[in-house]
Amino acid sequence: MVDFTLTDEQKDLREMAHNFADKEMRSVAWEYDKDGTWPQDVIDKAWEVGLMNTHIPEEYGGPGLDYLSGCLIEEELGWGCSGIGTSLACNGLAAAPVVLGGSEETKKKYLGMLTESAKLASFCLTEPDAGSDVAGMKTRAVKKGDKYVINGSKCFITNGQYADWFTVYAKTDPEAGSKGISAFVVDKTDGVTIDKKEDKMGQRASNTATVSFNDVEVPAENLIGEENHGFKLAMMTLDRTRPGVAAMAVGIARAAFEAAVEYSKERQQFGVPIAMHQAIQFLIADMAVKVDAARLLTWHSGVQLDQGLSNTLTSSEAKRFAADSAMEVTTDAVQVYGGYGFIKEYPVEKFMRDAKIMQLYEGTSQIQRMVIAREVLLPRAV
Ligand code: CAA
Repeated sequence: MVDFTLTDEQKDLREMAHNFADKEMRSVAWEYDKDGTWPQDVIDKAWEVGLMNTHIPEEYGGPGLDYLSGCLIEEELGWGCSGIGTSLACNGLAAAPVVLGGSEETKKKYLGMLTESAKLASFCLTEPDAGSDVAGMKTRAVKKGDKYVINGSKCFITNGQYADWFTVYAKTDPEAGSKGISAFVVDKTDGVTIDKKEDKMGQRASNTATVSFNDVEVPAENLIGEENHGFKLAMMTLDRTRPGVAAMAVGIARAAFEAAVEYSKERQQFGVPIAMHQAIQFLIADMAVKVDAARLLTWHSGVQLDQGLSNTLTSSEAKRFAADSAMEVTTDAVQVYGGYGFIKEYPVEKFMRDAKIMQLYEGTSQIQRMVIAREVLLPRAV
């Protein structure tokens, strides 16, 4: 039997996240969006109430929440402000490889850092010439005695400027393609430089930076898992984080949908609220379908993880559909608002700008289609 009933604990979590999003995020979201203000105050509060590090296991100080609960939280954070929400969720991306492959000492030290105080960590995979093509990365890690020396530059790093440690992917065998990549935990030490903060179209309250590693020495024990197994670790990480990204896209779409519904009942044209016109009703109807369908795919991909099943296919399906739907729904919300939708005084232009990145980060919609097609045509043995 398929049952969509949430447990009481999940309902409470969702309500708590919703109230937080409403009171602490929406109250500052449009202001912070204007100048790209770093939301440290919101991060501190979110950490305090337990809305960060949701999947860190209890033995390392986290709440060890299931993935469906994580999706419920992320939808609300996306509804509140996906820029701030991305900053809040990013620790999950950096921590996942450590949870999956880190030694006991590494987990205690680095996961503990995130759960003991409101510290941040970043996931450093993307490079200027290696975005979708992960295996094309150039960052090098060379073993010297009991240390690795890392050199290279990573771009589009969420929270990069504020992170205390980084999960860094580097080539340890440059000739071996995807089989020559290793993952490391790197502290913010002298050789780690923040070269650039991006000025973005949307999600402006999140920090996106270029982070370079210049002869950075890391102890050999900071290798996560086995040498040259980093690519799979990155893919397994993305399987675990894409449901949350999809949920955030659902949150953005839902925010735009709710705004459009309200506005359509207030705005009068041709003597009636525009909601009375079929042209608007059809837009609203399609928005409703997209929000609900995206949520179902998202929950499915999270529940599969909770059941210990492979969710490579469903996490890409959810991420692809939810991200593209968020773009469509927010664009249609602007359409419902008409000319006012294009003006910053109204909420929906921010949703439309924020939605765009959902089709780009953690794998573009085209990469998700590639993964889906491969899983359908030639499923990986798991
Ligand atoms: N789980 C486990 N193993 C996996 C896997 C998965 N989900 N997917 C692939 N693999 C394994 C394959 O089985 C294969 O192993 P074998 O060689 O032993 O058979 C190996 O990994 C290589 O796989 P592919 O041949 O499929 O690799 P590829 O080079 O063709 O790339 C890709 C596949 C899907 C395109 C991948 O590169 C990809 O996902 N690219 C997108 C990257 C991405 O999402 N980047 C976003 C960065 S995160 C971010 O956005 C930062 C932020 O701060 C927000």
